[in-house]
Order: sequence, then structure tokens, then C-alpha cells
Amino acid sequence: MKIFDTHAHYDDEAFDGERETLLGQMHREGVETIVNIGCSMDNSRQIVKWIKDYDFLYGTVGVHPSDIEELQEKDMEELAGLSQDKDIVAIGEIGLDYHYGSDNKEIQKHWFSRQLEVALAQGLPVVIHSREAAKDTLDIMKGIHKGEGGGVIHCFSYGVDMAREYLNMGYYIGIGGVLTFKNARKLKEVAAYAPMEQLVLETDAPYLAPVPYRGKRNCSLYLSRVAEELAAIKNLPVSEIYEITFENARRLYRLD
Ligand code: NI
Repeated sequence: MKIFDTHAHYDDEAFDGERETLLGQMHREGVETIVNIGCSMDNSRQIVKWIKDYDFLYGTVGVHPSDIEELQEKDMEELAGLSQDKDIVAIGEIGLDYHYGSDNKEIQKHWFSRQLEVALAQGLPVVIHSREAAKDTLDIMKGIHKGEGGGVIHCFSYGVDMAREYLNMGYYIGIGGVLTFKNARKLKEVAAYAPMEQLVLETDAPYLAPVPYRGKRNCSLYLSRVAEELAAIKNLPVSEIYEITFENARRLYRLD
């Protein structure tokens, strides 16, 4: 059994004091590879250095829509520079989030677009965060990125119609703990609809722990719960879910 966690935040303070112990357990429990996702300029800088301590950790650099307020054009140059490190496998997480209000829509769209352009120029895939911003995200993805360079729509929260658009452009869909929630009807439909070859597993640790850990601190060791749920939906043995999503993740992040 080999598990690939395509999206985690182990640099988060929720892991302070236990980070090393926890990451030390991963291999024994079948977690083979983890991609630690960047959210801000500051933590992107840290991730590039910190992932060197672990041979199974890769990283991404990028600025999350909730952290774009103070971005400047010169940061795009720095981001491009950071992304050239050999263990940095994508630009992300980037996107649009209107959940806490959309009064800065235009600023969000600007920096989302600029970071997509950085990814295209660097020839890297993208990790997309999109929440309550379905139409604007799709418009920008279709206008600027069009699947070129590939990527994943992380923590997918929209319906089958939206999923179809992204799948047709060749993107992967990230499936995490939400799949195990009672009210996850929409995500279950998407998981059933999407071809197995375009699904990847993710935790978003420390967030979004699956049932029965819901509300607790998430970690990659809990991905088995998501895999079991997906196995039931796809009517496949869990071993095959691990195997296929592992290969998908390697393709997504070009680790071949
Ligand atoms: Ni995340």
C-alpha cells in the first residue's frame, strides 16, 4: 500500500512540537509521498528550505486568495525564482475565495491571474483553491490557463456540471475528508462521475479531517478513511484506489 497526500500544510502551527514525530511515522503507515502546499510569500520561502529535511516531502509555492492583499509585482519574480527549486512541484495554492466577502474581487482576480501566468512561464502545474467563486474561477482558468501545464482543483466544492468543465480541460480533482461527511452528497456525485484517472487524494491537513476524526487535527494517516469511502463509491477494492491515485498524483506533479 502506497499513499500519496497531494495537499497538506505540515508547516502549520497546529503541528508545532509534534511535527517530527508525526512525519516520522508516515512511511511505516504507508504514506509514501506528501506535497506541502504554500499559502503566502513567507511560508513559501520557508517551505523551499524545510522540505529538504524529508526525502518524501515535496512543496509548492504560491499565495492563497486570503493572503493577497499586500502582494506586489516584485513578489511574482521572487515566486518564479522559488519555484525553480527541484523539490517544488507546482504553483499553489492560488485561486478565488468569496466566502468571507467579495469586496476585493478584482484584487483577488488580478493576483490569481498573475500567478497562473508565473506557472505557465515556469512550466509548472497549478493547485487551485476556489470557494463560492465558481464562475469567476472557471472564466479565468479558461481564459488564461486552459489546462496547459495541468493542475488540480483542490477541495472540490462544486457540482458535476462544474467538474465536467475542469475534467475536460484535463485537470485533476482533489478529494479529501469532506467525502466522508454526511452532507457530502454533491462531492459524492462528483467522485462517482469523474474518471478514476483524474482523481487524487488530499488531506488539507491540519484542516478537514474525515469522519470519525471530523473537527480534530487532520493528518495524512487518516487518508485511509477517504480511500475507503471512494472505494465504495467507485465499487473498487481500496488497494486499487491507492494504486491509481498514487500514479495520478505522480503524473499531476510530474514526479516520473
Ligand atoms: Ni490547503
